[in-house]
Amino acid sequence: MSSNVISLGEKGLELPLGALGPRYINYHWLRDNCSTSFDPATRERVFDIFHLSQPPRPRSASLVDGALEVAWEGENHISRYDLGWLEGALSGPRPDPADLPRGAWYADHYADIHRVPFAALQSDKSAVAGWLKAMLVEGVAFVTEMPDSDAALTELVHHIGLVRPTFFGEYFDVRTHIEPSNLAYTANALELHTDTPAEEMAPGLQFLHCRANSVAGGDNLFLDGVAVAEDFRTESPEQFRILSETRIPFYCEHDSYDMRSRQRVIELDEHGAVSGVTISQHMADVFDLPQQELDAFYPAFIAFGRKLQDAKYMMRFNIQAGECIVFDNHRIVHGRDAYSATSGDRYLRGCYADRGELRSAYRILSGEGRFK
Ligand SMILES: [Fe+2]
Repeated sequence: MSSNVISLGEKGLELPLGALGPRYINYHWLRDNCSTSFDPATRERVFDIFHLSQPPRPRSASLVDGALEVAWEGENHISRYDLGWLEGALSGPRPDPADLPRGAWYADHYADIHRVPFAALQSDKSAVAGWLKAMLVEGVAFVTEMPDSDAALTELVHHIGLVRPTFFGEYFDVRTHIEPSNLAYTANALELHTDTPAEEMAPGLQFLHCRANSVAGGDNLFLDGVAVAEDFRTESPEQFRILSETRIPFYCEHDSYDMRSRQRVIELDEHGAVSGVTISQHMADVFDLPQQELDAFYPAFIAFGRKLQDAKYMMRFNIQAGECIVFDNHRIVHGRDAYSATSGDRYLRGCYADRGELRSAYRILSGEGRFK
């Protein structure tokens, strides 16, 4: 290929790039992304375009052995770009191995939930990758045969990242142990919700390690917010739009804290697909939207809230001692039936991590990265 296929313009050049055909490339972008801009040891960008004394402009540009070579005006610097690299970089947003399409699930999902023994995760990276993939695609998975210890939960989280504290602390305990004499006591039902919506960034992943469960009742109720919201989009597109655009206030207030945030009931990802929901009737603040807006908001909100309770979506099960259920707190709506606390012990220990760390851990295991 001869160099005359490159045409140098005022602010960028044009050259043919394989299957992409003729491509325009901005000079700032080109100079910024010279291969010498990145340090292979730290893997960080070490070139700072803020320090260029003049807008970058080629003195010359040519094609040499499958690469674009650019000599820059006013700099004693030649950049060399592999054409295959340029073609990949210009073909669209950077591919992300953790950006997997979600698989909606329904009431009958319990038997199909991804399950992996704790010990397998300790010794087998492919078991970790399979677990993380299930979390990304389905938003829920079981880790089984968990040791009956506090340390086991921390070790489990460390496969993904660090424990993410909330304003309640790093870990929380859901424990009921009532003397048999307290016959009248009943542990109340827990309404369907996602956790801590009053935080600006509610934690992305929730871990619930069941250490004991011998009570009667107390079924766990889990449903896939993605499944419900995508169906809602089909059935009620205008109400779906309202819930995916309107930000409503949530709060959590007591003597020493006053958390407030605004969240959309339906959360969309960069593709426009539903990535999560935020529901918590006990943390919904007084809606301070214009009253006329509420004429349309409330019917949409109520229609969606009722749809969440449809038996079609409600997965019921009873978590067993030794199991840890891990789920996407922005996607999986959960609650619990009432149970009789006189009938035994029930102890769940929980904590959180973040979605970003889940995706990071999955990318590492997938082997894809800028420096791979
Ligand atoms: Fe919860």
